[in-house]
Amino acid sequence: MADPATVAQSFYTRWARVYDTIARRAPWIHAVRTEAADALSLAPGETVVEMGCGTGANLSYLADRVGPEGTVVGIDFSPGVLDVARRRLAAYPNVHLVRADATDPPITDADAVLATFVSGMFADPAAVVSSWTSLVGSGGRLCLVDLARTTHPVWRSLNPLFRALVRVSAPPGSRTMRDSPTELLDARLVAAHRALESACRVTHSATHALGFARIRSGVVQQSITISDS
Ligand SMILES: C[S@@+](CC[C@H](N)C(=O)[O-])C[C@H]1O[C@@H](n2cnc3c(N)ncnc32)[C@H](O)[C@@H]1O
Repeated sequence: MADPATVAQSFYTRWARVYDTIARRAPWIHAVRTEAADALSLAPGETVVEMGCGTGANLSYLADRVGPEGTVVGIDFSPGVLDVARRRLAAYPNVHLVRADATDPPITDADAVLATFVSGMFADPAAVVSSWTSLVGSGGRLCLVDLARTTHPVWRSLNPLFRALVRVSAPPGSRTMRDSPTELLDARLVAAHRALESACRVTHSATHALGFARIRSGVVQQSITISDS
């Protein structure tokens, strides 16, 4: 069987246009993307990297904040979503799209990193997030946005529906893993956000979309390396 990364790349390439519609038109998504970009406290002229940028739904929010003298780098490993992003961002000369692995990005310095709806796709999210804290260094900013089951007392009743949506929308490889895709998503969100908390002074923490979407951002105090063992 193909490895999970290859499966994910063909999945996101095949469904790039459908994904793009959801990524831009979900009812709560504009508020989340605005809040995440704001949470990075970007200044004109800075460099910001989006890991797993998909079809580029966040990139104009970032480009508007760093201005024409700043730099935005969008990294994704799926060629289909990058094609959509390239068309969308053609008018922004300072947005650079790179096909690469976000767990080992080909960039050594940046002021800030954003990753939205991606942590759940990493086998070891804590290690990946801690490597991003090293990338931005002390004083750099990091913002994660991820989906998981809600803990909201009213909306918890919708968790079975969320579970069903995750099951149908997860790249095929994740449906055969030992844990259900939803449990895996929850565990990976917790690992990623804990890694951010361990290395950063948390500057923003909020939930959206009935508690299903979590935003957490921080300023790196010390970059650390976390291993799974
Ligand atoms: C759910 S989409 C999110 C896209 C975008 N961040 C957004 O908010 O719309 C996840 C994206 O992460 C990308 N991705 C997952 N693992 C990756 C990795 N290791 N390196 C680069 N891209 C990755 C996928 O190709 C896909 O485009």
